[in-house]
Amino acid sequence: MTRTRISEVGSAVIGTGFIGTVHVEALRRIGAQVRGVLGSTPERGRARAATLEVERAYESLTELLDDDTVDVVHVTSPNDLHVSQTREILAAGRHVVCEKPLALTPLESAELVSLAATSGLVNATNFNIRYYPLNQHAHELIAGGGLGAVRFVTGRYFQDWLLLESDWNWRLQPDRGGALRAVGDIGSHWLDLMTFVTGQHVSAVMAELSTFIGTRREPTGPVTTFSTDLQADAVEREISTEDTASILLRFDGGARGAVSISQISPGRKNSLVYEIDGSEGAWSWDSEQPDQAWAGHRDRPNEILIRNPALMGPAGRAAAVLPGGHVEGFFDTFCAHFRAVYADMVAGEPSSHPGYPTFADGHDEMLVGEAIARSAREGRWVDVDRSSVAGAQPVTAEIAR
Ligand SMILES: NC(=O)c1ccc[n+]([C@@H]2O[C@H](COP(=O)([O-])OP(=O)(O)OC[C@H]3O[C@@H](n4cnc5c(N)ncnc54)[C@H](O)[C@@H]3O)[C@@H](O)[C@H]2O)c1
Repeated sequence: MTRTRISEVGSAVIGTGFIGTVHVEALRRIGAQVRGVLGSTPERGRARAATLEVERAYESLTELLDDDTVDVVHVTSPNDLHVSQTREILAAGRHVVCEKPLALTPLESAELVSLAATSGLVNATNFNIRYYPLNQHAHELIAGGGLGAVRFVTGRYFQDWLLLESDWNWRLQPDRGGALRAVGDIGSHWLDLMTFVTGQHVSAVMAELSTFIGTRREPTGPVTTFSTDLQADAVEREISTEDTASILLRFDGGARGAVSISQISPGRKNSLVYEIDGSEGAWSWDSEQPDQAWAGHRDRPNEILIRNPALMGPAGRAAAVLPGGHVEGFFDTFCAHFRAVYADMVAGEPSSHPGYPTFADGHDEMLVGEAIARSAREGRWVDVDRSSVAGAQPVTAEIAR
């Protein structure tokens, strides 16, 4: 059905946990019509729909897709459900915004890229961090030669919510979260962001993955993401996924770099930091201080840019809403991202070169992740193998993991 403006687009959200809630609220802010949510069970869906003041709680994905007022579905369920749910949504002719990581394996993500391309539907992977206005500005600045040649790209993504052996989440289980945990969960954001900001893809990696907490206690009751509550009843589980990663990087435009990733760094709640050193200047940003960026110079004083539509280029301005000094943050990135994606829905199809992260970008991070895992296993540099991108075909049989 033709929609002429975002306020006519009907959305549904699968998953009503930490980030599903953010999707619902952001969609309301951009003016989309949130038709309903799908929870893990009908009861949970109804309870969350009531709390979120959403009209419908669907009983199943089939019922959701039978609702012809729904044009787009947001997939915010645990990682192991992304592929099967997205496959069904595309088959039903609906646009999709899927959370990262797009899939558990590159084979699966390649299938989604292929299905989405064949469908002609709008598809996005929610690498929302690109949409902090200062990151949009950095992308444009670097593309315009503002730092000279990009040489050295370094940084970290640290959190502390899995610091204790009593901290538990489905992400710790490879069959639910994927074989890579810290890298897939948060490292994928940093790697995608650096590709976006520098315009260079990661071409080779040398990685070490470490699991410091080999046994954790899984509570027998339900667990909320980022919760640090202690529960008395728990069973011991062996952990194979990594708590930290140290990765050396080569980029296809000649840059070199390194990133550290951790979910066990005391005090670091959600700290994504990067610094890009070019031949003529440097740029650095920290997600815990997202409204300011540091610009480094050799021959004049360094600068701090406070996010300000009046002082940024068109891309930074498009992602910003408020005047400088009125702090914008995490929630706002979802709004800016969804506005860009929904503009294509209103246009009726994906633009030829979407500015937002698509399934192809989600798949690319799966390929980088595969190289990271192989490098850590084999103790050597591994090239990122992108040959599957060109050859991706729909896989109709059940995917072997
Ligand atoms: N872009 C970001 O910044 C960001 C941040 C956090 C999480 N994420 C991603 O979002 C996804 C969800 O993460 P979360 O932190 O919200 O997890 P969560 O555990 O808080 O929420 C997941 C929700 O999915 C529900 N669910 C489980 N099975 C379901 C099913 N069959 N059908 C429908 N719903 C089902 C669960 O009940 C839960 O409410 C993950 O893929 C994660 O990587 C992205």
